Amino acid sequence: MSQPSSVPDHADAPEWWRSAVIYQVYPRSFADSDGDGIGDLPGITARLQHLADLGVDALWLSPFYVSPMADAGYDVADYRDVDPIFGTLADAEKMIAEAKELGLRVIVDLVPNHTSDAHAWFRAALAAGPGSPERARYLFRDGVGDGPPNGWRSVFGGPAWTRVPDGQWYLHLFDSGQPDLDWSNPEVREEFHDILRTWLDRGVDGFRVDVANALVKADGLPEWEHEHGTVDAEHAPMWDQDGVHEIYRGWRAVLDTYDGDRMLVAEAWVEPIERLARYVRPDEMHQAFNFDFLKAAWRSADLRRVVTTSLAANDAVGAPTTWVLSNHDVVRHATRLALPAGENPNGIRATDPQPDAALGLRRARAASALMLALPGSAYVYQGEELGLPEHTTLPDELRQDPTWFRTGGVVAGRDGCRVPIPWNAAAPAHGFSPTGATWLPQPDHFAHHAVDVQSGDPHSTLELYRAALALRRDLRLGEGAVDWVDGEADALAFRNGPLLVVTNFGVDPIALPDGAEVLLASGELGGARQVPTDVTVWVRG
Ligand code: GLC
Repeated sequence: MSQPSSVPDHADAPEWWRSAVIYQVYPRSFADSDGDGIGDLPGITARLQHLADLGVDALWLSPFYVSPMADAGYDVADYRDVDPIFGTLADAEKMIAEAKELGLRVIVDLVPNHTSDAHAWFRAALAAGPGSPERARYLFRDGVGDGPPNGWRSVFGGPAWTRVPDGQWYLHLFDSGQPDLDWSNPEVREEFHDILRTWLDRGVDGFRVDVANALVKADGLPEWEHEHGTVDAEHAPMWDQDGVHEIYRGWRAVLDTYDGDRMLVAEAWVEPIERLARYVRPDEMHQAFNFDFLKAAWRSADLRRVVTTSLAANDAVGAPTTWVLSNHDVVRHATRLALPAGENPNGIRATDPQPDAALGLRRARAASALMLALPGSAYVYQGEELGLPEHTTLPDELRQDPTWFRTGGVVAGRDGCRVPIPWNAAAPAHGFSPTGATWLPQPDHFAHHAVDVQSGDPHSTLELYRAALALRRDLRLGEGAVDWVDGEADALAFRNGPLLVVTNFGVDPIALPDGAEVLLASGELGGARQVPTDVTVWVRG
């Protein structure tokens, strides 16, 4: 492939990650090349032009490694090879190479807290028995009486311990198919340094680090009987232990031996943001996902507070702030923002109240336009550039998230945000798969969101994203700063470089300053250039 003329000239900029827009690809739902209904690496490679046209700097791929898929690939059986569902190692290498030719960097997912129970290490641990060095790579313990060693609960529901035939128990903070590794074991540390090098040698630009706040557990695994999600609870013995930082300092040292500005981004549901900022100190990771921003209620005061505290906490350690509204674990923001303020359920079922789709989309467009005007690095989850909503009426019998099973059908789980992407309205599976097969069904209204329907329509969400990303690049918004403008109570207004950004959260329209030149608007403006409710505008002047 020859070098296209569209390769962005900043692609080799030092510390590119400080201001990068990074697009999350969820491989099983992005594009299916072989027609089995599950997306794959050749499918991604064939669609890379979409990402280049969108104007993002990099893509991050959720796991595509060998896996029994107990948790959609976050249960890894071989960290160095590709699952046949997704293709081959050669397909991965081709995808990385073609992305680079388009000026796109590639970040892969690293899952260090747990392996799959099909991993060679776990099989060896089962075979070797209690007290063996093979078991010492995991957290095997004897039970108390007939019960587990303690009352820890799995994030997905149910107990965090499973008993093996010889009577011992192993810890799994997630599914029973995801045994936790023992990070106090030097062999585990060495193995992950080697896995990092394997992928760095294959040319990846960085790693997204799965549940980065979980690797170290408090000594003695002290009792903790609370139900918990992945969000840190004060003093929880399995989250955000101080010992994790030494691990990341070691990883940073590995990355620093490579050229090309490789990076680490932490997935760590840690509060408050000052604790999260510890993961991005100068000798640790480069970025951490800002979930406070994702969880913030659609209210001006809440968002202003989150933006301010996020920038301050990251500035204090010299790290860029990230912004994220959606990913493969949460209700898509085009649906979430229509829920009562601040609500963030783990999935929505057909029997739940159905959110107002038009309201959700309107707010999602405003939220995205707000996010993309902020300095730092932004993450875009596949489909959000299409304004894609959550699938809120997925039949229960089709659900696949382990959360659904481990809670006995009480919690819907994350399938609704993982539905395959619509590319062509009229094609089978809306262009996702040549045969029309899809591992989760697409609701009929996905046709209206298809890439081909939106492309070229100036009112579409896709064109809004393209325009915002082009302006963000031209005006160097990612390298800018937030300067708040006070005024309307129900508005959020700030300057970033030459831009004035205004979002209206109130009922009354807001008048733009005289002579202001509107560069971008997430919705139609009212007469005399009034910004209506739930609209964000970017103006110059
Ligand atoms: C992270 C992933 C999530 C996965 C979990 C366990 O939170 O984003 O999808 O289920 O870790 O690996």
